Amino acid sequence: MRKEGVKIVTIGGGSSYTPELVEGFIKRYAELPVRELWLTDIPEGKEKLEIVGNLARRMVKKAGVPMEIHLTLERKEALPGADFVTTQMRVGRLEARIKDERIPLSHGIIGQETNGAGGLFKGLRTIPVLLAIAEEMQQLCPDAWLINFTNPAGMVTEALLRYGKHLKVLGICNVPITTRMTIASMLGVEADRLHIDFAGLNHLVYGLRVTVDGEEVTGQVLELLADPEKQLSMRNIAPMPWEPTFLKALGVIPCPYHRYYYKTEQILAEELKQFAAGTTRAEVVKKLEDDLFALYQDEQLETKPDILAKRGGAYYSDAACSLISSLYNDKHDIHTLNIRNNGTIEGIPDESAVEVNCIVTKEGPKPIPVGALPEAVNGLVQQIKSFERVAAEAAVTGSYDKALLAMTINPLVPSDSIAKTVLDEMLAAHQEFLPQFGKHLQEMMG
Ligand code: G6P
Repeated sequence: MRKEGVKIVTIGGGSSYTPELVEGFIKRYAELPVRELWLTDIPEGKEKLEIVGNLARRMVKKAGVPMEIHLTLERKEALPGADFVTTQMRVGRLEARIKDERIPLSHGIIGQETNGAGGLFKGLRTIPVLLAIAEEMQQLCPDAWLINFTNPAGMVTEALLRYGKHLKVLGICNVPITTRMTIASMLGVEADRLHIDFAGLNHLVYGLRVTVDGEEVTGQVLELLADPEKQLSMRNIAPMPWEPTFLKALGVIPCPYHRYYYKTEQILAEELKQFAAGTTRAEVVKKLEDDLFALYQDEQLETKPDILAKRGGAYYSDAACSLISSLYNDKHDIHTLNIRNNGTIEGIPDESAVEVNCIVTKEGPKPIPVGALPEAVNGLVQQIKSFERVAAEAAVTGSYDKALLAMTINPLVPSDSIAKTVLDEMLAAHQEFLPQFGKHLQEMMG
């Protein structure tokens, strides 16, 4: 780390989430002196990058911190000398997400950004781009940490760890931090008194044990979570109460995304209503983005607007800024991260990504051993891990067979024939962003 301060590069800098990141760095400036924040984006994102970049400059000026904001469309110009690189892009932008949701739903199966068929295609589009970034980092800033928030975070971390040229890779998500904050507020205690032993995969993480000041309260939390009035959910997932007896029997805390697997029918019914009304989550987000960017353009705006909290990814950047500070300051505090398993969870390959609690030091995060997962949750975790591994291989090789396998073994895809129909339609719909499938697509299109 250079003495004169930290250099951060944010790829996908024109994202509407960037003001949260900037706020996170401003708040922590005393402990984490970010001297340069480079926001990079693709040429199609130039306008958004400029709007967000100008807002970032106003925020920094108002806060009176000497943080330089640089904007560029050239990643390679930004990367040299970076200490941390964060990635938050959406390959194919929101239009691609709309297809990820609507095409599966048009065949009567769940369409979602990170799960099922939609998650698979977001991964197929994103993984090659992230692998290229990792390769550039290896050349231009080999000591920097790559901190990925891009979804599907589990699958892309899996690919980066197994196929990437850069080894200092961490995946981060807002589900653990949101879970902790929500449960702390349900219990009426400050979040820093509450500890949750998280283990599993991204968007499939369980709270195995909850303690307040070291005393176990898992049973009490499960009772609270069964109360339909007290939902633990995310903005992007329809709130839906859990079956109290199921929660009690499960004995561990499911994350909001577990609804896709344990309440598949109800979630699908809800999504089909949105599909019919033209209000799938991506369509809602598109509207929200327009509102956000209209606000960001206002020259009077000098802080992060409150409506950003309507996005599902709220607190992302807080989690990321606090992780960067822990790495920089050798804090030895606990963060829940997507990281190489290396025996942390029994039965998952060493080189695969898992989402677990880690002690964060300046040498990097050290995962806290979990051992075996409870019998009743291990099966689903294994199945999704196989899906992520096969999907990552499909993304890297462009193998149609692997893509079909990934689609078919996903538990949200009910049959091999639906898998093939949806796969073919989605490959054609996203072909612009799937160069690795070029040969297959050419043959398919005749
Ligand atoms: C959740 C997830 C994130 C995801 C976000 C989507 O919070 O944890 O991984 O990016 O929701 O939110 P959106 O507002 O885009 O639907």
